[in-house]
Amino acid sequence: MKTIFITGGAGYIGSHCVVSLVKNGFKPIIIDNFSNSKENAIKNIELIIGQKIIFYKIDLRDKKKLKSIFKKHKCYCVIHCAGLKAIGESVKEPITYIEHNVGSTLSLLDCMMQEGVYKIIFSSSASVYDAKQTPPWKEQDKIGNTNNPYSNSKFIIEKILEDVAKFDNKWSIRIARYFNPISNHFSGLIRENPRGIPNNLFPLIINVAQKKISNLNIFGKNYQTKDGTCIRDYIHVMDLAEGHIAMIKKNRLKKGLKVYNFGTGKGKSVLEVIRAFERQTGISIPFKFIKRREGDIVSSFCNPKKALKELNWKSKFSLNQAIMDIKKII
Ligand code: UD1
Repeated sequence: MKTIFITGGAGYIGSHCVVSLVKNGFKPIIIDNFSNSKENAIKNIELIIGQKIIFYKIDLRDKKKLKSIFKKHKCYCVIHCAGLKAIGESVKEPITYIEHNVGSTLSLLDCMMQEGVYKIIFSSSASVYDAKQTPPWKEQDKIGNTNNPYSNSKFIIEKILEDVAKFDNKWSIRIARYFNPISNHFSGLIRENPRGIPNNLFPLIINVAQKKISNLNIFGKNYQTKDGTCIRDYIHVMDLAEGHIAMIKKNRLKKGLKVYNFGTGKGKSVLEVIRAFERQTGISIPFKFIKRREGDIVSSFCNPKKALKELNWKSKFSLNQAIMDIKKII
């Protein structure tokens, strides 16, 4: 049984990956500092998979402790999901973001190299694409020109990984560019559970549905789209988790660097999302239009063909199915 280290494994995407890893016969070991997750996420993962999970509460920049984990367990591959991810916060604290995200990645790569582990999957973001290009975006499209330190930290890490792969042929590096992950495991036991006030669309819609807030603010109503609201590529987090499995299984982690888009390839507007949510759940989502959010782009969706061709992976769940799973946590 192959052991996979998963950094940020208690977080939203990481925890869903852990479930898929176990389901597919891998042994995940979680490394997390719980800065944006809660320790009961581990208990809930264990409830789903019906077994104990090994986890370490450490900061990845603590090389001494990190190295000791590599010494203790024979690691096949690292899935690197850990990182700070709030754009708004990153604009206020640019140094913190670069320091955390880039610093922890450098520390991880150094420990891996010293311990002879050369396989890594990196959680990147659709926000690395240069948004001047019209979507659907392909992996070879231009990246960079980001307008915030969070996206820039992902871009910088991608560039570092490019160099690592180019000048040291021992490495197998995979970059997963996530579009907009939504929903939760069908059990409803694990979910996106950010500390503090959420700023992503779905956690906010859920708050309105639960009457924690009275209405949703839609950022902008006069974008050049079919209904004036922004377009995004919303992907079920379980589909995303399965995408990671597709990269690892069948000994697919051959040497070199490869980049994959993980999205559905279909763009949905904010209004379409709200309507679908209301239809599927029967809960009305009152909203009002407010001014555009700074840094928002009009439209983001991917061309997902490369992952289908090379990994035989594509998203299975529709937006409606994703919403039906969300219904379980409301
Ligand atoms: C955001 C991040 C992106 C990150 C992604 C993770 C920003 C600008 N971008 O992307 O880097 O990778 O989350 O999922 O924060 N919306 C509203 N009202 C709200 C919240 C959102 O109208 O209260 C709209 C936004 O304008 C956007 C859509 O909903 O059109 C999705 O927003 P969000 O969930 O924040 O995701 P992104 O902006 O795509």
